This record gives sequence, C-alpha cells and structure tokens, in this order.
Amino acid sequence: MHKRPDGIVLRGARAEDLDQILELTAARGGPEDLPEARAAFIHDEGHRQFYVAYDGDRLASVLTLWQEHIRLGSTRLPAGQMDFVATATDYEHRGLARDLVAIAHEVSAERGDVLQFLVGIPYFYRQFGYRYVLPMPGHYTVRPDARIEAPAEITVRAATRADLDTLKSLQDRAQASAGVAMGHSETTWEWMFSSETVRVLLAEREGNAIGTARLAPDDDDEYCALSEVATSEVGAVHALVADVRGSSGRKTVQVTERADGVVQQALAGLAEHADSGEEFLLRVHDPVMLLEAVRSELSARLAASPFAHEKGELLISFYSSSATLTYDNGAIESVVKGPSMQAPVYRGGSGVPPDLVADLVFGPHGAEALDELYSDLNLGRRQGLMSVLFPPQSSDILTYYLG
Ligand SMILES: CC(C)(COP(=O)(O)OP(=O)(O)OC[C@H]1O[C@@H](n2cnc3c(N)ncnc32)[C@H](O)[C@@H]1OP(=O)(O)O)[C@@H](O)C(=O)NCCC(=O)NCCS
Repeated sequence: MHKRPDGIVLRGARAEDLDQILELTAARGGPEDLPEARAAFIHDEGHRQFYVAYDGDRLASVLTLWQEHIRLGSTRLPAGQMDFVATATDYEHRGLARDLVAIAHEVSAERGDVLQFLVGIPYFYRQFGYRYVLPMPGHYTVRPDARIEAPAEITVRAATRADLDTLKSLQDRAQASAGVAMGHSETTWEWMFSSETVRVLLAEREGNAIGTARLAPDDDDEYCALSEVATSEVGAVHALVADVRGSSGRKTVQVTERADGVVQQALAGLAEHADSGEEFLLRVHDPVMLLEAVRSELSARLAASPFAHEKGELLISFYSSSATLTYDNGAIESVVKGPSMQAPVYRGGSGVPPDLVADLVFGPHGAEALDELYSDLNLGRRQGLMSVLFPPQSSDILTYYLG
C-alpha cells in the first residue's frame, strides 16, 4: 500500500472493490468491457489481478495485470499484460494511471516476468517504456459474391468446455511456425466458456476436430468477423466461413490472417486483403535478464549457424548497462551483466539502446535491418554473429479481444 501526498491510496484490490471497479471500467472503457472485467474476478482470488487508487472510499483509478506467457522459439517467457486501465474523469491528469502503471511494473518484475505486453490507446504507453513491436495481423474481407463451397463432409458446431484440450492443440499447431507466439491464458479460456458474448466454433470431419475459429460479438450489421482460425485444411476455412455466412445471414465476412498462412491460402482470389498497420506493444525492463532467459534459444540458433564450432565472447552494450555472452561449441555458456558503456563497437562489441531490445529479440526486422534503421544501434564487427542470434521474427498473438 502506498499513500500519495494528496491522500490518495494505491493498493492491490480486494474482493469488495468489485462493484466500483466494474462501474469505473464501464464508464471509461464502455459497457462492452464489462463481461471481461467481471470474468477476471470469476476464479478464486481473481481480484488480486487488479490495482486500485482510492480517494477515501471513492475509486479514482484502476488497472489489471494479467499473467501471460510469450514463447520465443521453444522458450516460454513469463510476461505481464496490463488491461482495463481507467481513471475517473474528475481525477484525470493527476498521475494516477502513471502511479498504477509503476506499481504493475514492480509487481510484474518481482514475480519474474521478463517482459510486459499490451494493446492500448495510441502513444500513452510509450511514456512508460513500451514500444510498438509485434505487427497485428491483417484481415481478408470475403467478397459478397465469392462462392465459398463448404466441403460436405465437414461440419461446424459451437465448441464447449469439453473441447478445451482439442482447441488448445489446434491453436498450438497454428502457432508452431511463428517465432514469437502467445496463446490464451487459462483465465482467458475460462472466460470464453463462461461469457455470453464469445462463440468459439469447431470444424469436424466424422467427429474428428480439424479446425477452430472465434466469432466476434455481433455488433455490426454488415460484417461479421472470424478470428483465431486454426486449421491445416483449406476446406475447414471454407466450412467455417460458410457456416458464419449461413448463421448470420450476412455475406461479408472478415477473416483475420494467421502466421501459418492457411487462411491466406484458403481465401486467395476470394477476398480482399488489408494490413492492420498496427502493432502490439512490448516492454523489456532488464535486457540482461531477458538475454539470460532466452539463452537456450540463442544457443539453438548458434548451434545451427556457421559459428557453431567457435569459442569466444560477445559484448553487447545497452549503453546504460552491458552484457558479455560467452559461447563455446554451439552453446551460449553465460550471460554476465556489466557496467554502462559508451563505445562498444570500439571495444569489438555491439551497441543496442535499451528501448530497442524488444525489437531486437521479438520484432520482425532482425539485428541487421535494425542496424540500418537506427543510428544508435551498431552491430560493428559482430554483425555476423548478432544476425545469427537475432534474426527477424514472425509472430502470432492471441488476446481475448479480437482484432
Ligand atoms: C488514459 C487514462 C487512463 C489516463 O489516466 P490518468 O490518470 O489521467 O493519466 P496520468 O495522469 O497518469 O497521465 C500520465 C501521462 O499521460 C499523459 N496522458 C494522459 N492521458 C493521455 C492520453 N489519453 N493519451 C496520451 N497521453 C495521455 C498525461 O499528460 C501524463 O503525462 P504527464 O504526467 O507528463 O503530464 C484516462 O484518461 C482514461 O481512463 N481514459 C479512458 C479509458 C482509456 O482510454 N483507458 C486506456 C485503455 S488502453
């Protein structure tokens, strides 16, 4: 608990804060946020994910910190996701969101998260160390006159809680080709099955699940949107689109693309593609801790590279801190934190500003292109090894909100 000089108290939420939290979330985020905010309380101790600012007994500001996991290659990294950030209008511009964000970052770092992830209003979170890093998927708009033939042997039905393991494994398979992936947390899956606004569809052939997708809540008269399409079969995509067309009575269906390319393959020539032009935000609070956490992934990349049989040291300066990686025979053996360092290239190392670390490790550009893009990111003579360790990444992120 923390008391500000103006008397406002910042603390973790308690179960009895629920009514005011829901009221403020609906007032600032819109009533459509209510089912999700309420669902966040559904499991035991759900209120522990909320942080609140109280002026006396009046709730002035709130935010949530979810526990997520982001996979890099085969390494699963704990990540914090902030959500439902809201300040009552008569308490705005007093630094309450800023203070709650600082608390969420402390909690996230203390519990061992190596990064933070979020989707938010434009610009705001860049003030708190976030960067737009992971491209959001575009979508295909299936033309009203496009003939979509659903294969006769594929049926589509609403998924239930009993299908959870099947849904998870379909999603895991759809994400397998992505270098960076985030699946739904247990809380989100639980919410999906308890929410009245979510429809998860399952495509089956002779009772065997072959695909799934999620239908956005029905809030538009002309469009309906299918997201999270996970299948290896073009026919299942067609069956899912045809089912939605049939059940909604509407002809225009928007289908979000996936990193695995199956949606693209199924809808080529039948739909118009549009990029989203937007990105998910990431924040890395301790670059050295992150490198240590992804060490086995870096080793795998090294072992598969022309540097596999070399032994040496790689100095990476983050300017305000630095790290030395020792490597031998295809393995990164240690990541050792060092002091701030102004001229790493002169010392035979590479320089990466701390605010570009998330781009370097998780982003779509890779080390070499970042060197071209930013004058303070310099790979120097270690360009070859840095490019092996930090290649461009594709990503596939599932959130409870639909793009
Ligand atoms: C956005 C919101 C949470 C900000 O809350 P707040 O308590 O007023 O924010 P703070 O006072 O801590 O502002 C921190 C900084 O952000 C700036 N800021 C405030 N609102 C901003 C906005 N909408 N966009 C960009 N910057 C903003 C402030 O100028 C402040 O900087 P400063 O301290 O250097 O002056 C609040 O306006 C709100 O609830 N909006 C409606 C709901 C919403 O959009 N939530 C975010 C969903 S992702």
